This record gives sequence, C-alpha cells and structure tokens, in this order.
Amino acid sequence: MKILTLTNEQVFALADMKGSVEELKKAFLAEAEGRVESPVRTRFRMTDARNVLLMPSLVRGTDTVSLKLVSVYPDLGPGVVSTRAFVLLVDGKNGDVKCMMGGTSLTGIRTGAVSGLSCQYLARKDARTLAMLGAGGQGFYQVSGVASQLGLGEVRVFDPDRARQKALVERCRNELKLEARPVETVKEAATGADVVVTATTSKTPLLDAVHVTAGTHVIAIGAYTPDARELGSDLVSKASVFVDSFAAAMEEAGDILIPIREGRMTRSSVKGEMSGLVSGKVRGRQNDSEVTLFKAVGLAFEDNAVGWMVYDRAMKSGAGGWTEV
Ligand SMILES: NC(=O)c1ccc[n+]([C@@H]2O[C@H](COP(=O)([O-])OP(=O)(O)OC[C@H]3O[C@@H](n4cnc5c(N)ncnc54)[C@H](O)[C@@H]3O)[C@@H](O)[C@H]2O)c1
Repeated sequence: MKILTLTNEQVFALADMKGSVEELKKAFLAEAEGRVESPVRTRFRMTDARNVLLMPSLVRGTDTVSLKLVSVYPDLGPGVVSTRAFVLLVDGKNGDVKCMMGGTSLTGIRTGAVSGLSCQYLARKDARTLAMLGAGGQGFYQVSGVASQLGLGEVRVFDPDRARQKALVERCRNELKLEARPVETVKEAATGADVVVTATTSKTPLLDAVHVTAGTHVIAIGAYTPDARELGSDLVSKASVFVDSFAAAMEEAGDILIPIREGRMTRSSVKGEMSGLVSGKVRGRQNDSEVTLFKAVGLAFEDNAVGWMVYDRAMKSGAGGWTEV
C-alpha cells in the first residue's frame, strides 16, 4: 500500500486560513446534523505536565476518517515547541490509508481557524484590536485565524519569553502585514482590546474580569485539563460562555470546570457549542457591550476537516512524497 506523506512545511504551504475556517464551518454543521463521531480524546498522562493524546474521528457522508497522535511536553526547555503531532487519514469508503501528515502545523492551523470562526458569531463587527497572550507555537496561528475574519488594525503581543514575543511580533508584521507591537503586561495588552486570545501553557489564571473591557471577545485555547486554567472565575462567571464541544469541555476545560466547582456558575451557564452557532440554533453575540468567551479544548474532527482539505490540495498540486508501507 502506498501512502502520501506531507511534512509540516508542506501542510503549512497548502492550507490557507480562510479556507480552513470554511472547512471547519462545514464540519461543525455536519456535527449539528449528527454526522460526526469524535469521541472525547484518550489522554495518557506521562507526568503532571506531559501528555500523549489520541484523537480519532469520522465524518459520515464524506466518510472521512482521521487519527491524530499528539504529544504535549511543555517542559523540554527553551525553544522547544511543546505541541508535536502527526495525523493519519483513512478513506472510510474503501478503508485505504491515504495520507500521513505532520500534525504540528495542522494543529496550529485548525486551532487558529476555530478561533477565527468564533469571531464570526461572537466578536463585534467593528473589532480592530487584538491582544495575543502567549507567543509560542500557537501564537502565529491564532493571530492569523482572527485576522482572517476581522479588519485588525493593531496586535499587542504579551509573553514573558522575550525572544518568542519579539519573533511573533516580527512574523505578524512580515507575514500577515499587521501593525504588531510587544507589550509589557497582560493589563497593557488587554485594556481596550476588542479580542483577547490566551494561548499559553500557564496552569493558573493570567486573565481576569479586571483586565477585560465591555464588548470584548475572549478566546481561550491554552488549557486542556480539568485542573489547569488561563482565566479567572470572575471573568468566566460574568461572560457569555460558548465552547467548541460541551462534552469535551465538561471533561477537560479547567477554565469552566473550576468556576463550576467553586459554585460561581453551573453547567447550564454555558450558552452553546460551536455547532449550535454555525447551524443557527444558538444565538451568538447579542449586543456591543457583552463580554463573550469562546473556550476551545480542540476536537479530532477539526483535524479531519482541515487534514482532508490539505490532502485534496496536495493531490491536485502533486505536493508531498509517497511511502510504501
Ligand atoms: N485548544 C486547542 O485546540 C489547542 C491546540 C494546540 C495547543 N493547545 C494548547 O495551547 C497551549 C499553548 O501551546 P503552544 O504550542 O503555543 O505552547 P508553547 O510551549 O509553544 O508556548 C507557550 C507559551 O506560553 C507562554 N506563557 C506561559 N505562561 C504565560 C503567561 N502567564 N502569560 C503569557 N504567556 C505565558 C510561554 O512563555 C510560551 O511562549 C498548550 O497548553 C497547548 O496544549 C490547545
């Protein structure tokens, strides 16, 4: 059996952010129609900080299957990307394994894309200023996802790792042609920002209600275990909360589970899922002063949707190599 192999660089070159957002929209609509099987992922906990995740999914109709294997090792030292992954694609119609691709850039792209998609329903239409908290592996993709949907005039980047902060500012300027600048504190980044993204490895809150201005859309993608969180309970309990998946959030999202455990909110405080927003069953932002929050832990069928888009483009353009297995 011959399978197509795509490196992370090839995946990055083949996927564009706007196209990825549209693929995700179709996938969340498929989920709303009950055509997606994407069980909550299996997490092998290697240490407190280190996890290996297995993420399978099927979209019925297209009969596309994917399996992602991700290792998240945030403590490997300076300069080492903490999230590394690869993805297998299987054609559910005939069982063929079609492709193995680097999943690190795919993860970044689909995670940026879901953040971008959330802006369609939850950001103010006139949102111009983005505060990007965390300038690691996900930072560039997050800015790129939000910028694909909003006319950003200013990006403020905060990360205590100065080298990463500087590198992200430069990438935003050079590759995305955005007005980006480094800032010294979370407060400086978030005050007056229209969209605030948290994409850090912090396990304790770095952003709370005191930092956030009325009308802001907050996107929290960093924390993915029940005891870790980037957001304080004041912010989460006051915001209109939306999630990528209710089932996954109730297993994994410390940002929501901790305020629930503290009695600051209940499960029913969550207003809806992304599938509800894209299908129109759930109403998104209701006015210009509401603080909205989109909490995403990351779903296997997002890799499926963007992975198959990348595969189709590679087949058309002849990109990638072939391996006999
Ligand atoms: N929701 C999803 O779908 C999804 C997808 C991919 C990654 N993630 C998660 O997102 C997080 C970030 O991933 P990454 O690949 O960018 O990690 P990374 O290790 O490459 O970068 C993390 C960055 O966060 C910064 N940071 C840590 N504490 C901070 C704080 N208090 N304030 C500001 N910055 C802080 C670090 O200095 C570092 O630059 C990880 O926890 C990862 O598991 C989630």
